[in-house]
Amino acid sequence: MRAMAFAETTGFDAIAAIDRPTPEPGPGEALVKMGAASLNYRDLLIAKGGYRSRQKQQGLVPLSDGAGTVTKIGTNVHQFNEGDRVTACFFQDWPAGTATEHAMESDTGRAVDGMLQEYCVIPASGLVHTPDHLSDAEAASLTCAGLTAWSAIVRLGQAQPGDAILTQGTGGVSLFALQFAKILGARVAITSSSDAKLERAKALGADHGINYSTNEKWGQAAKDWAGGDGIDNVIELGGTETIKQSLIAVRPGGTLSLIGVLSGATTGNVLLPFIISRDVRLQGVTVGPMDAMAQMCKAIEASKMHPVIDKVFPLNETINAYQYVASGAHFGKVCISIDDA
Ligand SMILES: NC(=O)c1ccc[n+]([C@@H]2O[C@H](COP(=O)([O-])OP(=O)(O)OC[C@H]3O[C@@H](n4cnc5c(N)ncnc54)[C@H](OP(=O)(O)O)[C@@H]3O)[C@@H](O)[C@H]2O)c1
Repeated sequence: MRAMAFAETTGFDAIAAIDRPTPEPGPGEALVKMGAASLNYRDLLIAKGGYRSRQKQQGLVPLSDGAGTVTKIGTNVHQFNEGDRVTACFFQDWPAGTATEHAMESDTGRAVDGMLQEYCVIPASGLVHTPDHLSDAEAASLTCAGLTAWSAIVRLGQAQPGDAILTQGTGGVSLFALQFAKILGARVAITSSSDAKLERAKALGADHGINYSTNEKWGQAAKDWAGGDGIDNVIELGGTETIKQSLIAVRPGGTLSLIGVLSGATTGNVLLPFIISRDVRLQGVTVGPMDAMAQMCKAIEASKMHPVIDKVFPLNETINAYQYVASGAHFGKVCISIDDA
């Protein structure tokens, strides 16, 4: 079977097609014919040897996110049958509850091989049934970006109808956050560097758009829009360059859902008393456990929500897909189709 793997130590160009024997499922495992995978910003970092990736050891199959069809099951697999459509969970060893050090070392596409291969053997416990109305590319986008946004809005964020949510940019996590918040009846402001992308976000249901390139006081603008004391939950994706404005936007007692570091991973520009004296909750978010993935899929099934897919590349254009995400031109998710390999 065909797989894509890192042939050298760093860079998108180091990803090349290799031949591997098709694996056999052992007890408790399923063999999945992959239909599609999706890219996340972290995959760009892993390609550079970052994100604590073991890519330096060569041969890592990239991408955490994938969906496909079960073609064979091992013994003791009761929840899936051959022919079932399935989606992979991000942490293969985090069933439920709070994170553990052990669980944090079970993410696909970094700690263990990822989804960019024709067939994957995956523990059945690390799979969920794909919502019927989704394509494999749409389902593949749920593994990391979808569940991260679900955790920030629902699992940890516990959004209530009428809440004011602020989400940053129009990438994968941010658009999922917008969609989940709207399903729950929240109000959503979204930022972008592009007015055209803001219009597309409004067509998806965003109540307010702010261009962070032309309005450096976008945090105050979001607070003014929210009314009352400000934003209930900021989906913080920017890091160094955004956290100060996010703290201006959030209401006393509100939440900063710390997810991403698109503009830098450290901060020396935050006045801690601003957090302390206003009872602001700093909530780290790392994707989520498998039971939350299953719950999210049920909500997607019930609401018939479709993830926003910008573009699907064929497997032999994997490097182009990476370059496209790196360009920042995308709106929502970028996927790779595997079943036409
Ligand atoms: N903690 C976790 O578990 C977890 C899970 C998933 C992702 N993440 C992190 O979350 C971040 C987003 O990931 P993603 O996969 O959704 O990325 P993505 O799809 O590549 O989204 C990138 C978009 O973010 C916007 N952006 C870039 N720099 C920005 C800035 N300085 N301020 C505001 N917006 C900015 C841009 O949108 P516009 O073009 O509209 O300006 C850009 O297109 C990354 O840092 C990623 O590592 C963390």
